[in-house]
Amino acid sequence: MTPPPSRPAPCPAALDAVLAPPVPVLVAPMAGGPTTPELVAAVVRAGGGGFLAGGMRTPDEVREQVDRLRALLADDDGAPAATDAPASPLATRFGVNLFVPDAVNTAIPDAARTPGALAARAEAVAAHRERLTALARDLDAPLPAAEDVTPDPAAEREGFEAFLAAAEEQAWPAVSFTFGLPEAAVFARLAAAGIPAGVTVTSAAEARAAVGNGAVFLVVQGPEAGGHRGTLDPAARPGITDLRTLLSEMRRTLGAASVPLVAAGGVTDAAQVARLLATGATAVSAGTAFLLTPEAGTSAVHRTALRQTVAGAAFAHPDDGGAATAVTRAFTGRWARSLVTPFMDEFADAPAAYPEVNALTGPLRRVAAERGDLEHVHLWAGTGAHRIAERDAAVVLAALTPGE
Ligand SMILES: Cc1cc2nc3c(=O)[nH]c(=O)nc-3n(C[C@H](O)[C@H](O)[C@H](O)COP(=O)(O)O)c2cc1C
Repeated sequence: MTPPPSRPAPCPAALDAVLAPPVPVLVAPMAGGPTTPELVAAVVRAGGGGFLAGGMRTPDEVREQVDRLRALLADDDGAPAATDAPASPLATRFGVNLFVPDAVNTAIPDAARTPGALAARAEAVAAHRERLTALARDLDAPLPAAEDVTPDPAAEREGFEAFLAAAEEQAWPAVSFTFGLPEAAVFARLAAAGIPAGVTVTSAAEARAAVGNGAVFLVVQGPEAGGHRGTLDPAARPGITDLRTLLSEMRRTLGAASVPLVAAGGVTDAAQVARLLATGATAVSAGTAFLLTPEAGTSAVHRTALRQTVAGAAFAHPDDGGAATAVTRAFTGRWARSLVTPFMDEFADAPAAYPEVNALTGPLRRVAAERGDLEHVHLWAGTGAHRIAERDAAVVLAALTPGE
């Protein structure tokens, strides 16, 4: 029988610690610096949970982050900090988020992998590179050669395998995948190691595919979310159905096959969290809300832009005074929500080519960031960016806690 849409799916025991902490709010994985072990530790200690960001890091760097987080959490509840000590309850209340590279993404249609399709993609990337040359010159920033940014599927497969090995070796409490859907064998392998694995999805069809491959939980990302959309097929235009409607749709579509759902996108207060829980979410994941906390590794330019947004001094939407954000491919070749900058208009037609566009624009963005130039950097932010606070992570979590 199909469960009523408002009742969350039961959480398997191994997932309980990660998805059902005392406060059902998780700090989102935010690659590129913001989600630090210190941020996750602060949220976990305050009663919530979280995911470390494995994206844009090497497997060894992620290993170090996991060790650091465990060390930060180990001395709690009287548990000794020695490495051979049993994990404290707090040290089991996190997961690690991994990007799924194209080479292992089963959601990419075969037609996109033919030699013809790959040649057309390389041509589009080269043409886009030409369009970036004037800006690179103006900023005095290097622009990589088009052939140097073409991804190597063998290297992608090898890198992904190294992450799975790290998960097994370090016995991560949970894994969440984003940017694609790995094959069923990956979920089976992690399950055999006692590691529950889930997937970020943005539509009911994606939810069905993910559960079909073995995902035991889903992160349901609404269009309000800051940063990249987790759309499984990178060439697909992400949906615009709002997060609550999406959650209801997924509960209906999955029916008896339902798994715990983590809701993400635009959440900055406790009333929103309460509504999402009432709509069937097991937990709510918030990213932007934590970007101005001292524990976050948010860059200086990003913080400046967010402070201006909160103060209403810049990045204000002309109609409602809220944050002016938009979804763009200009920065990385994958759809992502950022505070609106002129660069997004100028390069609105960037091809659907991640990681190539990311690699082409990366040096430009780094140079701009060093100069405090807000116009040429990505400023990932959700639709609630004007409602965030520059407070300790524990205070932000309290503001997200229903009934506080
Ligand atoms: C700066 C930033 C970086 C992000 N990086 C990742 C990431 O590495 N992996 C991921 O699954 N989601 C990433 N996201 C998306 C978040 O996981 C989450 O879906 C989003 O923050 C929720 O919307 P909100 O920012 O409005 O709370 C990122 C979001 C932001 C704002």
